[in-house]
Formats: sequence, structure tokens, C-alpha cells
Amino acid sequence: MANEDITRVLVDFLQRGLVISPWLMMNSESRFDVDLFTLVDRIASDTVDLNWTEEEKIEAFGAFPLSERVPKTAVYEIIASTALSIAHYKFGDFEIYHEQIMEAVGLLNQFIADYGFGTVLMLYGLVTSFENAQVLHYYGKVSEKTFNLGSWHRPWVDYSLSDELFWGMFSGNYQIEIHDSTRYVSLTNRGKQVYLENIRTLDECGYLTRRVRQLQIHNFTFYQNYSEVANEFWPNMMQLRKNFLAWSGVQPGMRVLELGCANGLFTFDAGLADLVGEKGQVVAIDPSMGMVYRANKRKEERNADGVTIVQAAAEHLPFESDSFDAVVAFNSLHFMDLTQALREVMRVIRPEGFFATAHPLKFNMAENKLVQEWMEPITKLAKSRVGDNAKNQAPIDYQKSPEEILDEFVNAGYLHIEQTLPKAANFFKDPETVVNHVIRGVGWMQEELSMVPWKAREDIINDVFELGKTLCEKYSPEERIFLSPMQTIKGMKSR
Ligand SMILES: C[S@@+](CC[C@H](N)C(=O)[O-])C[C@H]1O[C@@H](n2cnc3c(N)ncnc32)[C@H](O)[C@@H]1O
Repeated sequence: MANEDITRVLVDFLQRGLVISPWLMMNSESRFDVDLFTLVDRIASDTVDLNWTEEEKIEAFGAFPLSERVPKTAVYEIIASTALSIAHYKFGDFEIYHEQIMEAVGLLNQFIADYGFGTVLMLYGLVTSFENAQVLHYYGKVSEKTFNLGSWHRPWVDYSLSDELFWGMFSGNYQIEIHDSTRYVSLTNRGKQVYLENIRTLDECGYLTRRVRQLQIHNFTFYQNYSEVANEFWPNMMQLRKNFLAWSGVQPGMRVLELGCANGLFTFDAGLADLVGEKGQVVAIDPSMGMVYRANKRKEERNADGVTIVQAAAEHLPFESDSFDAVVAFNSLHFMDLTQALREVMRVIRPEGFFATAHPLKFNMAENKLVQEWMEPITKLAKSRVGDNAKNQAPIDYQKSPEEILDEFVNAGYLHIEQTLPKAANFFKDPETVVNHVIRGVGWMQEELSMVPWKAREDIINDVFELGKTLCEKYSPEERIFLSPMQTIKGMKSR
């Protein structure tokens, strides 16, 4: 299959809600119970028996040697990861039930019917070989034993990757080197080229961005004590929320949609629900079901009947057109696909209604010595990056400049645009707060971290933690407060 075709097919695969790599399985309490494990195992065997015919093998792989294990593993992992993704995003659950497995099976069967089983294996091969090559590229060489166990890059596997090693060598992409009586696997020059091409393909079809976003929402789902840590890390943020609410133009009696409510810090604590009052209505959305669950709990505690919490993302709003007087977002715009979200928001606002948002902006880490030093283990990654983004050696982040956001508002057709540029205080209190909030929570530089193998990511986060201990001794509490740029911006929908 030509590269453009693979990209097109992978885009379709992802748009259908299918997931290949079980990254999300890590770091979660998710589990199958034994009956479901047996069920998925049996479905995987049946799917292979039914679809992996002689004709399909020849059509997809010609005379290339094939593995007995991979087709079944591929089906198993795709069903399990897709079911988990459905459980997370649709139901906010960490456990997988029969219903989600059957939904995942339905999605996969439809894909096989449309494209053939060989195509599923090609996509699986593309993603897994990307992960295999990534660990070899990052470390230069990995002992054969570690590679086969997958413990540095695919720690969820409970099978040997020796057949994938064999294919890599058969294709001329991997080689075995012997040093100090140990066999190591490394990439050949051809393997390095193929790796770069794979990064390009996965980038073009949005796979890499999607993976970062999935991980980000996943992080929020597990962020139990968001309020406490957020209030400590951002000492002036509650005041900024209140200032923004007063500036936004929201009035008593309005029907307001809030994007990215998390556990309700803006909805309840900053006073949005109180401001619209009994005659008004607040609908607050968040894609992370963990956050939706927590926001609902706080709604009950406060008997806030005028507030409805809905699990949804800003890019696909499950509401009728022209149905809100205003849409507001506090510290959530930077997690969205901006163009898509602005279009969706415009659709649901009534004519002459408005959208107001406050969000962090891109900032130059070099401007603050402490942050620069503390984040060095991650920023160093940017310097060693390969692929099309290698030219840009600053860490990639999802935050934008005020001009970029303003342009997007103008292009989306918002009128009477106004903005302010406040500063948020970030208190780098202690290593635990910084790692849990900044890195594992709100996900600074996830783009960089998601481009390294699993072990490297965990090691780097640990380095940030250890470094923090020294820096907290070196800098006083006052010096550990850093002001970062924010933007508030609002615009109106035409009549
Ligand atoms: C930093 S929290 C902000 C929470 C809160 N509004 C506040 O005042 O602190 C960002 C929230 O945005 C949510 N989010 C992430 N992607 C989103 C999307 N595409 N649409 C809407 N919300 C999103 C996250 O799940 C998270 O709960």
C-alpha cells in the first residue's frame, strides 16, 4: 500500500474510534475480569480463523514471512484498547464491561469488512514498529533480552517480541551487535530512514496528536485532588477566574455553556452558577469522565439544580444550534483543536451571543531561570528530536501566542473582539506538586514526552522530581513564584 493510502486508511481507522496501541492501559486501574479475558481471547481466535485466509495473506504480504502470533495479538490488543477507550470517554469507567467489548468488536468487524484483515495488520505493524524503532533510536542499542520483553517500550506485553525482531532484521531495519558478550539490537541506516518515514506518516494522519490528547484527558480523569493542588500551584488563579467572570459579560438569567469545567472550580467556586442565578442555566462540559463525576458530586453537595454537567468535548458539542446566550471557558482552550472548537462554539451560540475564554499562552521557558533549570530534563529532549520537527528545537507545546488565537477568532467570524493579557502566578512549591500538577496533571510538554519510549518518559519525570529537591533548597519560596502569560478574549456572533 502506498504511503498516502496508509495515511488515509489510518485516519479513517482513528475516526471510527478504533485504537491500536494500549498506552492507556498503563498507569490505570483498568482490568478485564477473567471471563472477559477469555471472551476477547476467543473472539480474537475466531476473527483470525475467519479472516486470515490464504488469499488475504498473499494479497497483503505476498511472500513475506508471517508470524502465527501477531494476527491474534493484533486483534486482541485492538479490541482491548478500543474497549478501554470507549469505557473512558463514553462512560468514565476504568473497568471494561461486556458492552464496551462488543462495541469495539463491532467497530473492528466493520473495518475488516471495508478494508480487509491484511490492512488491519498493516496498521498494527506500522504503530508497533514505530514503537520498536523508537526505543532503538532513543537508546542507540537495547539488549536483545530487554527488546524481546518489551519492558522499556511496550511494558503491557506479556509475549515475546522475538518475531518482531526477526522481521525487523529480515527487512534490513534492525541488526544484532555483540558487545561485552551481550547481544544488542540496533537500527541499521535503512531502519533509521524507515523510522523517520513512519513518524511522518503517523504525524500526517494525526495519530501522534491524538495520542497526546488521549493521554491528556486520561491524566485529568485520574486527577483526584485537582482543586487543592491547583489552588496551591496557582495562588492568584481564583481571583483571575472571578475577574474573568466579571469581564466576560455573563449576566443573571442567561443560558451559559462552560467548556472544560473539570471539577467545577469556575462553575461553583468562582461563581458562574451563582451569577446566572435561578432564572438562568449553566451547562458545563468536560471530556474527562473522572472530572464529570467530581463536578456532579459538587453539584449535588450544593443543590445546584440549575447546573447540568455533560461529558463532551468542545470540538463536538451535543447541543442544538443557537441554543446558548454565552459560552465560556477557563483554562481549557489550550487542550482543544482550536479551529474546530471555535466553529462548534459559534454554531451553538445564539445570534448576538458571545464566547469568552481565559487561557494560558505560549511562553519562553528561558525567561525564568528556575523553570528553565527545573524542566531541563524535558527541554533537553527537544534538542535531540528527530524528524520533520527537528528544525524547531524549542519544546513543542500546545499553547499558542495571543496573535494566533486572535487570528483564529477573526477567521471563525467572531465580531467585536476584545482581549486582556493578565499574568498567572505559578508557585513551584515542592517536587511532588510540580510533577503531579505540571507534568502528570495539566501536562506541560506532553508532546515531547510522548515522543520517547515508556521507560525514558518515566526516567525523565523522575529526573525532574529529583532535580526539584535541589532547586527547592537553592531558591527561596519567593523566587519559586513565576509569572506566566494568559489571555482573556471574547467575541460576538453576528445577528
Ligand atoms: C486545567 S483544567 C481547567 C479546569 C477549570 N475550568 C478551572 O477553572 O480550573 C482543563 C480541563 O479541560 C478539559 N478538556 C480537555 N480537552 C478538552 C476539550 N477538547 N474540550 C473541552 N474540555 C477539555 C480537561 O479534561 C480538564 O478538565
